[in-house]
Amino acid sequence: MNVYAGLTGIPVVKSSISYIDGQKGILEYRGIPIEELVENSNFLEVSYLLVFGKLPTKKEYEKFVSDIKENLELNQGIIKFLKDIPKTTYPMKVLQGIIPILSAFDENKEVLDEKHHYSSLVNLLGKVPTIIANWKKILEGKEPINPDKTLDYAQNFLYMLTGEIPEKEISQMFDKTLILHAEHTINASTFTAIVVVSTLADFYSAVSSAVGALSGKLHGGANEKVFYMLNQIKDLNQIEEFIVNKLNRKERIMGFGHRIYKTYDPRAKIIKNFLTRLSQLKGESELYKKAIKFEETALKYLKDKKIYPNIDFFTAVFYSYLKIPPQLYTPIFAMGRIPGWLAHCKEYIKENKLFRPTQIYDGGHNIHYIPLEKRG
Ligand code: CMC
Repeated sequence: MNVYAGLTGIPVVKSSISYIDGQKGILEYRGIPIEELVENSNFLEVSYLLVFGKLPTKKEYEKFVSDIKENLELNQGIIKFLKDIPKTTYPMKVLQGIIPILSAFDENKEVLDEKHHYSSLVNLLGKVPTIIANWKKILEGKEPINPDKTLDYAQNFLYMLTGEIPEKEISQMFDKTLILHAEHTINASTFTAIVVVSTLADFYSAVSSAVGALSGKLHGGANEKVFYMLNQIKDLNQIEEFIVNKLNRKERIMGFGHRIYKTYDPRAKIIKNFLTRLSQLKGESELYKKAIKFEETALKYLKDKKIYPNIDFFTAVFYSYLKIPPQLYTPIFAMGRIPGWLAHCKEYIKENKLFRPTQIYDGGHNIHYIPLEKRG
């Protein structure tokens, strides 16, 4: 028996949700290229596509959006809980902790029932943005802003974060960043979600566990680290020295590299284009200038190893343009990934097989217990 560290290259499911060609830089959701979806669709329509396997009819789409809007508001008990927990609680922990509680307000509790799949989807798509935005306001010592059903999904989220209705072009770009986060085959957090659901635990437990997996800096947590990394650099002229020192110390450059992409991450390419547009609209921010020079310089050293910027490198700069605090970058990634996680849970549960890998034991045998007082 061999151990497949990190399960690299080991298929654990058959799936028709998304496809990556890491050599060519292709990402498709249900067979549709990501570029086409970003150009023509929006996050909620893409969520429907991922979970139900087809684009919705007009009637299905309207019902789906309306069901999500009916689920935007948080129960007062949850808002009180948010107000009472320590302000030092990391936002990803807040999210991970609150999500299972949302199941209390869902009457469809049977994980094998399609009704559970639908109600958990609209409930999570509705409430996760509200949790993130409310937590931001509470951290600022302000009252949370109630969701506004008259706004579209991204507009409402940005409104709850800031109290201001964002410009349409900006909120549309934000919405498209959610499309780019929505799904990415069997990565660490999606794998976590299907492992949990394979035990017949419900979709809320699966998503909460996936949030925990996403929070690590080798996965979704990298976007926040990119912000801090770029901010360590005081001057554009120091970028090369910074990168060389990091590589000499064998440290990872945050926002670079990917297990699957050995070419430019197609998601990063799109977000970089959004940044070009944002810099025209808002002027070139210091972080933007640093990021552009950083990318160019880092590629001099990393391109030969097929290490390119990934989605997290540019989203950090994108969200900073929107004045979103860095601690919220990974929760926003999670908010975008909900449809992907739930699509996989729904697909996996159909032909469920409890995950139970094995191990190669390399410990001892017949070792005898030593009473506490006799241990050295
Ligand atoms: N900076 C410097 N060197 C790197 C980096 C990096 N970001 N990524 C990989 N390498 C080097 C690594 O040091 C190793 O070098 P050597 O062969 O000389 O020891 C080689 O590349 C292979 O590394 P690996 O860890 O086997 O490669 P991997 O495919 O498992 O790495 C990764 C994938 C994402 C864990 C890694 O690229 C990394 O740590 N990146 C930084 C964190 C990051 O940006 N994560 C977000 C990933 S994209 C969002 C998501 O989908 O979660």
